[in-house]
Amino acid sequence: MTTNDLATAMKLAADDIERTLERLLPPPVGPEARLAEAMRYATLGGGKRLRPFLTLETAGIFDVKRGCALRAAAAVECVHCYSLVHDDLPAMDDDDLRRGKPTVHKAFDEATAVLAGDALLTYAFEILSGSETHDDPRVRLELVAILAQASGPHGMVGGQMADLAAEAAGEDYDLGQVTRMQKMKTGALIQAAAEAGAVLGRASPEARAALRAYAHDVGLAFQIADDLLDVEGRIEETGKAVAKDADRGKATFVSIVGVERARAQSARLIDQAIGHLALFGERASGLAALARFVIERKS
Ligand code: IPE
Ligand code: IPE
Ligand code: MG
Ligand code: MG
Ligand code: MG
Repeated sequence: MTTNDLATAMKLAADDIERTLERLLPPPVGPEARLAEAMRYATLGGGKRLRPFLTLETAGIFDVKRGCALRAAAAVECVHCYSLVHDDLPAMDDDDLRRGKPTVHKAFDEATAVLAGDALLTYAFEILSGSETHDDPRVRLELVAILAQASGPHGMVGGQMADLAAEAAGEDYDLGQVTRMQKMKTGALIQAAAEAGAVLGRASPEARAALRAYAHDVGLAFQIADDLLDVEGRIEETGKAVAKDADRGKATFVSIVGVERARAQSARLIDQAIGHLALFGERASGLAALARFVIERKS
């Protein structure tokens, strides 16, 4: 798949996800209307939609019905958007810009941002547990379990705590600790996004393990690329502030090994990720192209 084909496929997926989220998210009505407004503001009209794309692509390998895959993909994106809303709060990274617009606590207020994050997280599980996500309740339960594990103390939230510790520790954090932190705060959700398609498609244990291994490497490379963009990116392209990690003295992959080695390591991870796709042949060409995009992206 060429870079152009990938861009077209990602655009198509992003449009489908936008429509799905638009339909699924609660409308702003009643005295709590502000909550739905903030949930919509945080979720609609922006982002690369990389995690939903992963779910749609892995589901596509197993011929999962598009409507089912879109619901699972939307649930993963809700968790991701919640993580961004809380990550940007003054108590955490204290950022004013996200996806090219003011962060939720800036556009609304802190209490609304906390609640909108809470609501997006729980709403993700409401979506997954709905019968339209899959006929078989066991499949729905498995989706709930993998998303919960990836999001909670052993995954994203645990990783965010370790990230705050990395800020406090600065130079005392070593490469092993940073790698573990990145796997948790970013890798886990990316892995769950890829695995969700395999769960929906009742993939064989071998196929599922191969996709997990692929997403493991993509997830790590993705966060290394994010740290590189913090050093080298342009705010006009990233849509969020840059140079914030160094400002805060945060230990990242880049602060420890430097730009060149970080870039080389991310490229190695991507080669390794693509190697795990051999089993799927042409059916995984979108996933292979996505892996390359992850380290070449400017936003
Ligand atoms: C940013 O994620 C936060 C990290 C986990 C590094 P993305 O780079 O996927 O953000 P959006 O969804 O495209 O805005
Ligand atoms: C965020 O990592 C990871 C999340 C779980 C949200 P960063 O704090 O580096 O993400 P950005 O750079 O603000 O998007
Ligand atoms: Mg952060
Ligand atoms: Mg941040
Ligand atoms: Mg970052």
